Amino acid sequence: MVEYALHIGSPLETGADTVAIVVGKELRGEAAAIDEELGKCLARSVESGDFRGEAGWIQVYYPPRARYIAASSGGDGVEGVRVAVAAIVRKARELKVRHLAIYLPGDLGVDSRAMIREAAVAAVMAYYDPQDTYRSREKKQVSLEKITLCTKGVGFDEGREALRTGLVIGEAVNYARRIADAPASDMNPETIEREARELASRYGLEIEVLHREELEKLGMNGILGVGRGGGVEPRLILLKYRGRGGTGWDLAVVGKTVTFDAGGLDLKPASYMLDMKYDKSGGAAVLGIMKAVAELRLPVNIIGALPAVENLPGRTAYKPRDILRMYNGLTVEIGNTDAEGRLILADTLSYVEKNYMPRRIIDLATLTGAIVVALGNYATGLFSNDDELAEKLLEAGEECGERLWRMPMWREYNQYLKSDFADTNNVGGRSAGAITAAMFLSKFVEKTPWAHLDIAGTAWVQGGHPKKPYYANAATGVGVRIITYMLMKETGSKQ
Ligand code: BES
Ligand code: ZN
Ligand code: ZN
Repeated sequence: MVEYALHIGSPLETGADTVAIVVGKELRGEAAAIDEELGKCLARSVESGDFRGEAGWIQVYYPPRARYIAASSGGDGVEGVRVAVAAIVRKARELKVRHLAIYLPGDLGVDSRAMIREAAVAAVMAYYDPQDTYRSREKKQVSLEKITLCTKGVGFDEGREALRTGLVIGEAVNYARRIADAPASDMNPETIEREARELASRYGLEIEVLHREELEKLGMNGILGVGRGGGVEPRLILLKYRGRGGTGWDLAVVGKTVTFDAGGLDLKPASYMLDMKYDKSGGAAVLGIMKAVAELRLPVNIIGALPAVENLPGRTAYKPRDILRMYNGLTVEIGNTDAEGRLILADTLSYVEKNYMPRRIIDLATLTGAIVVALGNYATGLFSNDDELAEKLLEAGEECGERLWRMPMWREYNQYLKSDFADTNNVGGRSAGAITAAMFLSKFVEKTPWAHLDIAGTAWVQGGHPKKPYYANAATGVGVRIITYMLMKETGSKQ
């Protein structure tokens, strides 16, 4: 465990063996003063033309006083700070630094508190190691013991609050990443229930789990249908946190939790199947959100819902052209068993809306390959029936660095989903695949402001993208920050 501290002043006062500074596009102001004390190493890089003021640029120097790392934010606002700090932490880890002091200058155009918070988020995220769970040998190398964030333009108490918030958020993101990264051999509907129970008891959340018999009684045939091929029975996990007290629910977050998506009888080709342990990333994000919200004690009443299933082929698996009668009474003809996420989400959306009447519903799902074609790995697809909710999410995404892009939901797109036998088909053909998936979901939300986040392109690093120093070649934990930032802003919580 790395210890984090805050120091108001110069990093040279901390006794750290390694001092790092973040600079913008150019070397000036406070950073230049510290560079001068360190023998003007960076100034010489600038003079020689080696310094390129772009986000993520990094250089290690060895002046007499301390090991010295300089990194640039590229003048790229708060995302630049996250990138620079993450690059520094990665480098420090590689160099087996013990105590790292990072200086965050006040002239980067970023509010001091936000800068401390975001530096902490980035440091914690950059420290995530996908090998931590499964490495068989004890790590011999010494690891980072302490990171001290240093700055001048903020009071100690305020700064410490921002640091704590950042650490909580970073840890919640990493918690979600750990669950998303876990292979299907360790994470199935049963073990994810265990995980949720542990989280609940640790943070005093209420938990309720609907197993097969209850799901049957309720007629949740979307979840049951998809789950029929699985080796472990499906279930619907509900977590509840009442931070506001009083009655009613401010938000329900629903996360697609397909612990493995082989495609079912419409089996995926091997190369597509290879990544499908990540089909539980939505559920993992919901667990991360519940952890963050509870630890930050945000004054909101929030429900997290995880429909957990395996989508496998087998003797008992649901079949193409089956017709399922869903929880809300709609009948669905199965055009493709690989479009399973929308079926389990549909039941969960209508169940949550009917039984809890939350003020808003947001779902997170690795729903379609089509959204990856549309937006690549640098934006999550946002679909919503409510402009105000959509705006809040876009804004939160911009602030935390998890970008969203809004997609249309014009009713004409429903034409693609027509079925000859049932109320709707579960697939709409090749055109507009991400949109028709969202249109399908919209049939299961009656009147609540709702947003659907298609995270298929952003939930894990695919072929090197998104390329950011705070990510590894693994899950990103996308969604945890978006929702947490939205709620922090809404509740006017100290950030
Ligand atoms: N889990 C997949 C979507 C997916 C694909 C996520 C690639 C991440 C990367 C989903 O269940 C699925 O298989 N969707 C199909 C839908 C199709 C059959 C209409 C798809 O996108 O191909
Ligand atoms: Zn699928
Ligand atoms: Zn899937």
